[in-house]
Amino acid sequence: MRPCEGGCPLDRARFLRSTALTALAGLAGTALLAEPALAQSVGSIAPMSSSGKVLMYAVPAKDGALIDARNGVILARVKNAVYAFSVICPHRATTTLEWLPDSREFHCPRHDALFQPDGELIQGRPDRAMDRYAVRRAGKDIAVDTATIFQQDTAQDAWGHAVVTVG
Ligand code: FES
Repeated sequence: MRPCEGGCPLDRARFLRSTALTALAGLAGTALLAEPALAQSVGSIAPMSSSGKVLMYAVPAKDGALIDARNGVILARVKNAVYAFSVICPHRATTTLEWLPDSREFHCPRHDALFQPDGELIQGRPDRAMDRYAVRRAGKDIAVDTATIFQQDTAQDAWGHAVVTVG
């Protein structure tokens, strides 16, 4: 391949990818700017409404993970259970998690930790599962209280009950 003289033009696919990631990163803030893998690997979601720190989401239609990058929330559905997680790895509060759709696991790229879709630790350096936000059913929707977050090691009972059962 010959080097470009005076700078190479971006090919179309690369330009579109770059533009999309920039737009997502702009929504996500600085945490995702550093790690665009999350934006690439997880479908996006936005709250339908909010009241203070309480965000209202539609119930995910199928199993998997969706990210609200602006608010740092991952909404995950596992059969009839819906969870809301922080996007931040519980090992070091500087790394964002990514979703591996093929293996259906969350992954931390920093130290290669793996988590189940319900947030339980599979392997790696963290000493606890993914942190869960308080959630409740609100009519047809899911209310996520981003002011209330539970760590498995310090609030095991509350962490275990931070789930909504859907039909
Ligand atoms: S920062 Fe995530 S496993 Fe270390």
